[in-house]
Amino acid sequence: MIIVIDGPAGSGKSSTAKTIANRLGIQFLDSGALYRAITYLWLKGGKPDKAEFFENLPKVQLQTEYRDQTFFVQADGEDLTDQIRTQHVADHVSEIASYKEARSFVNRYMRNLVTEGAYIADGRDLGTAVFPDADLKFYMDASLEERANRRFLEMRETDQSVSLEDVMKNLRSRDQKDQSRENDPLKKANDAVVIDTTGKSFDEQVSEMIQVIKGKTTLN
Ligand code: CDP
Repeated sequence: MIIVIDGPAGSGKSSTAKTIANRLGIQFLDSGALYRAITYLWLKGGKPDKAEFFENLPKVQLQTEYRDQTFFVQADGEDLTDQIRTQHVADHVSEIASYKEARSFVNRYMRNLVTEGAYIADGRDLGTAVFPDADLKFYMDASLEERANRRFLEMRETDQSVSLEDVMKNLRSRDQKDQSRENDPLKKANDAVVIDTTGKSFDEQVSEMIQVIKGKTTLN
């Protein structure tokens, strides 16, 4: 069983999916974290030539685990969970994610993972490209101002130097790249349930989505 949530940067997909996973006792899968991990590896390697980097990518052993409200990511045994959340990674991730080699690597990992058990996953193209037959699809959105403000408050907890202006610039540019790329762009699936969270409290949006899940799947 797979439930997917797609939507633009900072629309609250991950925090919502985590809470729903905990309440319903299912697994959480963060596809953006996998693109961030690849981006981190490319940056750590000193921004190598892309053709060479992508040729070696399939040899990387990714491992993920969701526990204690955290989606842990390891690559070849190195824990990347914190490093993938920096502004530096955020500034490059949409470029790396636009390559078809990155997309097929991440998609293969995700499809293998969800063959057993129940999952809620979040991303950009899950309902359209990765899991077109998902049991249930959501599309979450909110105004750019609200998304930037939420992300700014979240990032400031660990990085005091971050500014609202930079966060807004990053979200705007990532949305633009994610929507206009050739390979599996961010797009609402025709059969997705749209959740606009502008002006809604976190608890309100979670309750609304849990109601939909209980109505449309066998989970309760
Ligand atoms: O949490 P946030 O909305 O900031 O982004 P994320 O889910 O961590 O994803 C980071 C980036 O990965 C996005 O801006 C996309 O460029 C890329 N991504 C993607 O292309 N396809 C996905 N299914 C998930 C993420």
